[in-house]
Amino acid sequence: MRLTVCFLSLLTVFGTGKCGNVLVWYTEGSHWINLKIVLETLIDRGHDVTVLVPDASLFMKADESDRFSYQPFNVSMDAQEMRNFVDEFLHFSVFEMDQLNLLQIQIKVYELTSKLQDMSLSYCDGILKSPKLMDKLRNGKFDVVLSDPIYQCSEIVAEELDIPLVYTFRFSLAHVAERLCGQIPAPPSYVPGAMSKLTDKMSFTERILNMLFYLSQDAFAIVAWKKIDNYYSEYLGRPTSYCEMMGKADIWLIRTYWDFEFPRPFLPNFKYIGGLHCTPAKPLPKDMEEFVQSSGDDGIVVFTLGSLIDKMPKEMSNRIASALAQIPQKVLWRYGGEKPDTLGENTRTYKWIPQNDLLGHPKTRAFITHGGTNGIYEAIYHAVPMLGIPMFGDQPDNLAHMKAKGAAVVIDNIKTMQPQELVDGLNAVINNSSYKENAMRLSRIHHDRPMKPLDEAVFWIEFVVRNKGAKHLRVEAHNLTWYQYHCLDVFAFLFTILTAVLYVFFKLSKLFIMRCCFRSKQKSKKE
Ligand SMILES: *[C@@H]1O[C@H](CO)[C@@H](O)[C@H](O)[C@H]1NC(C)=O
Ligand SMILES: *[C@@H]1O[C@H](CO)[C@@H](O)[C@H](O)[C@H]1NC(C)=O
Ligand SMILES: *[C@@H]1O[C@H](CO)[C@@H](O)[C@H](O)[C@H]1NC(C)=O
Repeated sequence: MRLTVCFLSLLTVFGTGKCGNVLVWYTEGSHWINLKIVLETLIDRGHDVTVLVPDASLFMKADESDRFSYQPFNVSMDAQEMRNFVDEFLHFSVFEMDQLNLLQIQIKVYELTSKLQDMSLSYCDGILKSPKLMDKLRNGKFDVVLSDPIYQCSEIVAEELDIPLVYTFRFSLAHVAERLCGQIPAPPSYVPGAMSKLTDKMSFTERILNMLFYLSQDAFAIVAWKKIDNYYSEYLGRPTSYCEMMGKADIWLIRTYWDFEFPRPFLPNFKYIGGLHCTPAKPLPKDMEEFVQSSGDDGIVVFTLGSLIDKMPKEMSNRIASALAQIPQKVLWRYGGEKPDTLGENTRTYKWIPQNDLLGHPKTRAFITHGGTNGIYEAIYHAVPMLGIPMFGDQPDNLAHMKAKGAAVVIDNIKTMQPQELVDGLNAVINNSSYKENAMRLSRIHHDRPMKPLDEAVFWIEFVVRNKGAKHLRVEAHNLTWYQYHCLDVFAFLFTILTAVLYVFFKLSKLFIMRCCFRSKQKSKKE
């Protein structure tokens, strides 16, 4: 059956080729949501997909109903420990961060990174140090490893199985991994570091900030990755580094696109596939559709702060609800907490909402969002202007992009936000047509491309399977030292030659001047 599907799909799309056997690295949360769509498409096209999954995972459950196979592995850490880590991280980012100074934040981030690394390395142990599992993988005849590198060691497995590696992710802090390990050029004068909240138009001060951000994050990464470097070197039995191993990836599938990013240089093995999870809207459940229709010409506002922040202090939810009660639109609010006292007639709370279907509804006027990439992409896809209330992580930076492109109004701090701010923000986004026009422009750019993002992601994975890698797209920069990369050795050489030539020229002219003056003096004496 699988062979028939594979054969037919190859016949219709490419004419020739082969069906692949894809090994997928485990991941978590929204990363998994994105990855799963790619995996399902791979299966539709007849490939075999095997997902490595730890026996302790918060989000990934070996689900019988899924069509791909799971390969479980043992980890020493249990799900409770992970839950605690995620809670600690959230508490820090949402509640603690603005009470700390920059140095304290950096120290705390270092602590958390270090904890995440320990977790990640204990996962590595579960795979690499289980001879039984490694043998199974070796005998599995895989064609490619597909990895979202929030957890390490996929690079080692690809190396050990001697097969190509395809990365898929959104960004690393200040683009450290892409720049230092992937060799992507990023001039700090106009490429703002990821998470800096800067745009491509920077003042002198902002360029200083961006440069310092790059340098500090590079230094941070070099220190923070030491443990992984050692682990990799020890396992492979030769000196290497995490960065060097990352640099071996054949293709980097980056989950953004030029509707969201500022234009910047990139490399032939970097492909931009943002918005691959977006689909046309499906009909809403009946009672929800009735509520939406009851809004008349005013339309509706869709409101969610993401799946991780389901509850908030009562005082905060009251402030928000009282603001929402003042607008003429109907509001659908995804909120798992207790019903606020100030909830207006026009607002309904839901434990879960079909976000994509609501954003695609013709009555939708605005999207109040925390600024997660998935939500922003759904809004771009359906051309909905946004009111951003960023919480943590990449969210402030994502929303800074949307604000710079004129498709969003951003409220900086939910904790100090006054109801009037929220009302004014919504008024602007809904009543001022420039936001809708910009959202429509981004949406046109998003849809007007040679290949849909999901097809492009699948194409490059299949490309790597068919051609046993894509090393021809990997720039030679990987094999240069830093001074060769910046041509410092060439400059030094040319400078030496120039100095030598100038020196000789200077000496000669001195000699010449002396002689001619000497002669003329002699001449004048004779005269
Ligand atoms: C995981 O642990 C169980 C029991 O300790 C063992 O039977 C199983 O073979 C282990 N799995 C792997 C992949 O090592
Ligand atoms: C938009 O303007 C109309 C009047 O032109 C006003 O009634 C309405 O409240 C404004 N929209 C919002 C979201 O408040
Ligand atoms: C609409 O918003 C844009 C961007 O913030 C602003 O430049 C413009 O003046 C606003 N128009 C009105 C009529 O308020």
